[in-house]
Amino acid sequence: MTWVVSILPLLSLISSCLGQSSIIPSPFSVFRLTPSSPYQKAAIELLYKNASMLNLDFWKTSHDGSRFWDVMVGEREQSTLLSILDRANISFEKTIDDVEKLIKTREHSPRKMSFSRRLKDDSVSSSGYDFRRYSSYPAMQKWMRNLARDYPHLVQLTSIGLTHEGRSIDGIEIGLNRETSRVFWIDAGIHAREWAAPHTALYFIHQLTSRWEDPEMRKMLETITFVILPCVNPDGYEFTRSSTNPHIRLWRKNRSEMICRNDHWGRRRCCRGVDLNRNFDFHFKESGSSDDPCSEIYQGKTAFSEPETRAIRDAVLSRRYRDRMDGFITLHTYSQIWIHSYGHKKEAYPGDIDDLYKVAKRATAALEAMYGTKYIVGSGADTLYPASGGSEDWVKQTTHVKYVYLIELRPEEKNWDGFILDERELLPTARETWAGIRVVAEAILDRKAQMDNQKLPGRCVNVKLSCARWLRERPQLCTQVPLFMKENCALACGIC
Ligand code: ARG
Ligand code: ZN
Repeated sequence: MTWVVSILPLLSLISSCLGQSSIIPSPFSVFRLTPSSPYQKAAIELLYKNASMLNLDFWKTSHDGSRFWDVMVGEREQSTLLSILDRANISFEKTIDDVEKLIKTREHSPRKMSFSRRLKDDSVSSSGYDFRRYSSYPAMQKWMRNLARDYPHLVQLTSIGLTHEGRSIDGIEIGLNRETSRVFWIDAGIHAREWAAPHTALYFIHQLTSRWEDPEMRKMLETITFVILPCVNPDGYEFTRSSTNPHIRLWRKNRSEMICRNDHWGRRRCCRGVDLNRNFDFHFKESGSSDDPCSEIYQGKTAFSEPETRAIRDAVLSRRYRDRMDGFITLHTYSQIWIHSYGHKKEAYPGDIDDLYKVAKRATAALEAMYGTKYIVGSGADTLYPASGGSEDWVKQTTHVKYVYLIELRPEEKNWDGFILDERELLPTARETWAGIRVVAEAILDRKAQMDNQKLPGRCVNVKLSCARWLRERPQLCTQVPLFMKENCALACGIC
C-alpha cells in the first residue's frame, strides 16, 4: 500500500494548481489516460474526485483499473494536468486537439446536395422537420404542435411541467385509443449535451405518425399509446446550443440556481445545475454521485429537488398513466449499451431480470441487423459505473412498469469523440434504435395478449408475499390493476 502514501504529494500538487472556475477560453483538448498500476489508478481517481476544482471534464470514466479514461481540459489547466500525469508517470495520448473545432465541423457544417437526396428514401424530407441536423428546442415544440394539428385522431400534445427557467416540458401522445390502451413512455435529453438522444426520440415520433396507416403499425397503435418526451431538460439543452465553447456545449446538468460553498481549500466556489439522473429517489446519494454543486454529477439537495425530475415522477405516477404503463425507456449517449436495472451497485437486478435481458438481447439484435452497430446488454453498474438516483431505476423499483431501459446510443464507448456525433450519423442512429424499440413494443403487445388470454405460464401462484395484505387493504385491486395482479397475485385474485 505504499502508493497510498506516495499519493500525498499529488494531492498537494493539486491544491497548488487549482484554477478559477468560470467560462474557460478555448482551445480545449481531450486526453486519454491509461493507468497501468494501482497507484496510477488511484492518482486518476484523485483527479476525478477533484475534477470540478481542476476544471476537468471526464467524458469517460473507467470501472476497472486496466481501462482508459477520457478527460477534457482547457488550455489554462493543461499544464496542471500534464504535470500531475508526469509526476505519477501515467501514460496518456491527446485524442482531440481542439474540441471547439471538432464541434464546428461535426455539428455546424453545410450539408451537400447528395446527402439531402439520399434522405428522400426515408420520407423524412417531407416530415416538416430537418432530420439531417440538430435543432433547437422551440423547433421541436413547433413540429410537435403541427403534428397534433395535422393528426388530431392520433396525436395529442402534452406538457408534464415547467423547468427551472420556466420552459414547458412538452411531449406527445401517439395512439388510436389514448385513454385506455397500454402506455409506452420514451424520454430523451435528461443530460443536456447528449444531443443525439432528442433527435432519435423525434425520429420515433416521425415513424409513428407518418406510417400509422401501415397495418402492423396500426395494430400497435390500437394497443399502445406512445408517450414521447424528446427533451426533458430543455434549459440545459438550450444552454448547450448557446455557444460552441466546449465548456458550454458539453454542459450535462439542468440550470438550477447557483449554490456557493467553500471547498476543502477554503476557496469560495459558486456553481449551477443538478445532474437530473442522480436526483431520483433511488438509493439517493449512495454511489456515483456527488454533493459538490460544482460537480458534473451533483445529485441536488434532496431527491426530487428539481422541477424536471418532479415532472417526470408526477407524470409516471399520474392517474392517466399509472396503471397502464408497460414500457419506460430513457435515451442517453454514448457507449452503445442497452441498460437494465439496477445501477447503484454491481450485480443487483430486479426479480424479472430474465425477461428484461431476453427482450434487450432481441432488441439489440434487431438494431445490429440494420447497420452492424454492436450493443452490450447489462446493468449500468456492471457495464459502466455504479450510480444511484437514476430515473430508470426509480421507475423499475417504484412502479409496476415492466420493460424499463436506459439506452446509451452511438458512438461506442472506446470512441474518443463521444458527445460530438457527426450530423451525418444522426439518421442512421435514429433508424437502428427504432428497430430496437419496435422489439420492446412487440414484447408489450405479446404480454398484453397473454394477459388477455390469462395464459401466463406458471403463474398460478402469488409471486409477491404481500398479495393477501394488498387485497385486504384494497379489495378492488384485481380489477383495478389487472395486468400486474394477474402476474403477481394470480392465486389471490382467483384468476388461474
Ligand atoms: N450515462 C448515464 C448516467 O450517468 C448512465 C447511467 C446508467 N446507470 C449506471 N448506474 N451507470 O446517468
Ligand atoms: Zn446521460
